[in-house]
Amino acid sequence: MMDFRPAGPKDYDELVALTGQEDWNYRPEDFDLMERTGCARTLVATNDRILGMITVLDYGEIGWISNVLVEREMRGRGIGRDLINAGIQHLEAKRTVALFSTQEAKAFYLREGFKFDRDFYFVRYVGGVKGAAKDFRWLDNAFEMDRECFGYRRARLLRTLMGAGRALAPLRGRGFALLRHDPKEAAVGPVVADDRGAGLRLLYAAFNALGVGCTAVLPDAGIDGVEEIFPVSRAYLGEKPPTDYGRVFAFAGLEFG
Ligand SMILES: CC(C)(COP(=O)(O)OP(=O)(O)OC[C@H]1O[C@@H](n2cnc3c(N)ncnc32)[C@H](O)[C@@H]1OP(=O)(O)O)[C@@H](O)C(=O)NCCC(=O)NCCS
Repeated sequence: MMDFRPAGPKDYDELVALTGQEDWNYRPEDFDLMERTGCARTLVATNDRILGMITVLDYGEIGWISNVLVEREMRGRGIGRDLINAGIQHLEAKRTVALFSTQEAKAFYLREGFKFDRDFYFVRYVGGVKGAAKDFRWLDNAFEMDRECFGYRRARLLRTLMGAGRALAPLRGRGFALLRHDPKEAAVGPVVADDRGAGLRLLYAAFNALGVGCTAVLPDAGIDGVEEIFPVSRAYLGEKPPTDYGRVFAFAGLEFG
């Protein structure tokens, strides 16, 4: 008999094992961090073990979905669909519900009624590009700018990510970049700034601070110093997610949008 319920700390080792099969590089601490953001909830499909999972993030008028995964031998039986429905129900009424889909999962999301917006690029920094930034201080300004650039209300998420990492600001003008040190996968994002020059200098300063090998989800293809790991397509239900491409230089990450 299958059951759907919120995941708790006792499940984290099992979730790490499940996501490990897809090389998603999670540690138990990452699930703990998601819970501490106050806006994320991971739901699991279980019988005697965990068969599948989804994480939903409540960003105010926008809901974000990530970590949609069904154990290999249980695929094709409707569990993925049930997880998506459970996640959407958990988010309640939203103007937009969006997610990053791999190319392989696109047909699944189309079947579930999602529309596709555009492609983004999950990349790894390979080094060699100079940036410029200073340490970041004005947090309130960051929440406001994040909302203007992505349409999200996620102050506590940003504060939690910042507490777990570090933040940089452009030398001039408004903007910020969050940096997450992680023994498995260091990551940069979000990166926002008032103009392209400042945004790119901030992005590279963040890459250099974390070092070669760190990852990011970027809106543009073909920028210097990075190699593409894989493209992701943004899918959505409801209204198209508002993104200010003039000021967004990296997303918060595959899981946070
Ligand atoms: C994507 C995934 C979650 C789907 O889970 P699932 O339990 O197999 O999906 P369901 O059985 O609920 O399928 C729902 C519908 O989508 C279709 N579908 C599922 N996967 C599909 C695929 N890869 N291509 C085409 N159609 C697919 C099913 O046929 C079904 O349609 P139907 O009822 O009209 O026949 C699962 O394949 C998975 O875990 N993949 C690896 C992780 C991943 O890629 N996650 C998404 C990251 S963005």
